[in-house]
Amino acid sequence: MTEKFLVTCALPYANGAMHIGHIRSTYLPGDIYARYLKMTGADVAFICATDEHGTPITVRADKEKTTPDKIAKRYHDLIKKDFDSLNIKFDVFSRTSNKTNIKNAQEFFTEANKNDYIYTKEVEQYYCNTCKRFLPDRYVEGTCPECGAEGARGDHCEQCGQALSELLKPYCLVCRSTPKKKTTNHWFFRLKSFKDFLEDYLEQTPLPNNVKNYAASWVGELKDWCITRDMSWGVPVPLKEAKDKVIYVWWDAPIGYISATEDWDKEKGLDYWKNGKIVHFIGKDIIYHHALFWPAMLKAHGKYKFPHTIQAGEYLSLEGRKMSTSRNWVVWVKDFVEKYPGDYMRYYLTINTPLNSDMDFVWKDFEARINNELSDVLGNFVHRVLTFVNKFFKGKVPKPGKYDKRDHDLLEKLEKAPGKIGKLVDEFNFIEALKGVMELAHAGNQYLNEKEPWKTKDPTAIYATANVVKTIAVLASPFIPGTAQAIWEQLAQKGQVETVKWSTAAKFLKPDTKIKVPKPLIQKVEIEEVIPEYTGKKVLVDPEIEKQIKSKDISIAIAEIKGIKVQRRAGELERLKKTALKDFDRKTVLKNVESYRYLLDKRDKGKEGLSSENIVKYVERAKMLPNINTVADIYNTVSFKTGMIMGAYDVRAIDGNLRLKVTDGTEKFVPIGSGRPAKIEKNEYVLADEDNSVITRWLTKEHEKVKIERDTQGCIVCVQGNKNIPQAEIDKTLKTVCDLIIKFCGGEYTILYPN
Ligand code: 2FM
Ligand code: ZN
Repeated sequence: MTEKFLVTCALPYANGAMHIGHIRSTYLPGDIYARYLKMTGADVAFICATDEHGTPITVRADKEKTTPDKIAKRYHDLIKKDFDSLNIKFDVFSRTSNKTNIKNAQEFFTEANKNDYIYTKEVEQYYCNTCKRFLPDRYVEGTCPECGAEGARGDHCEQCGQALSELLKPYCLVCRSTPKKKTTNHWFFRLKSFKDFLEDYLEQTPLPNNVKNYAASWVGELKDWCITRDMSWGVPVPLKEAKDKVIYVWWDAPIGYISATEDWDKEKGLDYWKNGKIVHFIGKDIIYHHALFWPAMLKAHGKYKFPHTIQAGEYLSLEGRKMSTSRNWVVWVKDFVEKYPGDYMRYYLTINTPLNSDMDFVWKDFEARINNELSDVLGNFVHRVLTFVNKFFKGKVPKPGKYDKRDHDLLEKLEKAPGKIGKLVDEFNFIEALKGVMELAHAGNQYLNEKEPWKTKDPTAIYATANVVKTIAVLASPFIPGTAQAIWEQLAQKGQVETVKWSTAAKFLKPDTKIKVPKPLIQKVEIEEVIPEYTGKKVLVDPEIEKQIKSKDISIAIAEIKGIKVQRRAGELERLKKTALKDFDRKTVLKNVESYRYLLDKRDKGKEGLSSENIVKYVERAKMLPNINTVADIYNTVSFKTGMIMGAYDVRAIDGNLRLKVTDGTEKFVPIGSGRPAKIEKNEYVLADEDNSVITRWLTKEHEKVKIERDTQGCIVCVQGNKNIPQAEIDKTLKTVCDLIIKFCGGEYTILYPN
């Protein structure tokens, strides 16, 4: 009987586009596997959908001032395009907010409730008194009680991967105020009661080590799981007494796998869940949900099979740095495919690193692999062989003569390839499988170099290698389907190569087959050294501050520096710091420090202390200047020498233009070093960004997020003056700081203000 497989990829939240991290961990491996299985003749359903409920969607809708259903639809379409552009081909790409899924999620709830796996309990939940609402999941942030990471969300810590229900130092995402606890009724799933079941499940299931170990480490710590929320966007709880509640998104999302299968085929879809092997592809951040919650939910429901395996892709970094969508340090699928064929991404992400190790995406390495491997080894081999057929045999595959030992060696390799490579894919060892395909091209090239058919026009050699080309087209198809199809078409084979049976990959071509005129298969790529660009930020000034500047009550100068390399320390800079210490002219410096004090009335009365004053105090106590990094040390040194207030801020964390602003009290601010949001008063002066984050409070502290790090490549430098320090002096000081920064860190600068 044909084996049935139900292959899924984690349902992406419909709140953003796809980037290489998603593709590498989840969607590409899933697609390779499903394509391969289909070619083996297995009965496969390859399933995905967008995950459309929960706070990830409503937070995005709030941000874009629209409704959750509009957001979900927009991103569903966008994500679908991203997948199409990479040839990631699901049998169905559905949506968790559709009727099927609402019905199924409610049915799972009702079944579990009937079987006494659900109970209700009064609990304390975060409630924001300013916003007059409960703060489910992403609406509250704070410090993770498990690992201490800041910025953890109400339901999940990105740092340690734990699912959460409590936070230390919580704050409301919308208004930043500290929420109170308020009682409300919620429904809980008895997850704890599944401990024995889950232990057995983990033991008996062929899960990869990274999944098994992670899940096993949590199985003893399970807590019952709150599966309802006080909000309106989501699956309504199917109980009269829960009118204003919805089911938690992580309950209805995995059920979305089932619903999408049903959407795909009403009649036989669910049969895959009863008689198929269920294989999930996910990213490693959601192992907890798939290896613990999900099997327990399936057990409570009782009608479907448990996951046969769960493959969890590890993280991808970009050029040595953690990817970050908020800092735009990612490669978006859409941007990639505008420049390169999708197969290039598929090739590079598969061949570079095994799925169960972290990988670093490096553009120069990408260039080398595409040019030296995909183009020089595979592309060249195919092109050479087809050119010989064309040139020496008028485009017809020649009849072979008698094979010698060398021919036999090559053809034996060919015959073994489908079995050998197939076994590797069966074991989810995609990297070695793809290397196996490349190995055929490599062997073919070597054979050609030895046989030199360009001299001999030997039909046997050309026939043998034409068969290698054909086998490569079939076996490469799950990995680089576009390229495989192009080879197939150059061989003038009919239909789609993806429909060819895997086991027949090495079946010989019929002599006399007329091929097409070959075209080069793989264009080389050239990655230019990235020359950093200025971000083009403008400085917008609120009228009140503008007036002060005109009347010379305040002076300001701002510059942007690009292309810097931040070091921990530099010998010559250390000498400069020592000299600054020695030459310190306390009187002049303190006069400048004091000259700012009148401006403090504008705000929190200077509780945090003037920043230049703080440096002087620090140095007098520590008898040295701070050692942070070459950028921070430079502005601290200049600030210490002059008493002037200044700072440097990482441009990556600044959203849009800069605004010198009089606050209205809604601004977001996490003072550097404190790790928790602070209240900004009305009528303070600040430098803010377009996301309403305070980059720096005037005269004192900057935001944690703009801190200069070792990987900072560009920054904004701002020198803040007052009525006693003339603009010319502020301008001069800004230049001094910028000149020093580029002297020690490289790069260039441009003055943004005054302009
Ligand atoms: O973490 C995520 O991106 C979720 N949207 C994944 C859901 S997978 C499944 F369970 F639906
Ligand atoms: Zn609030």
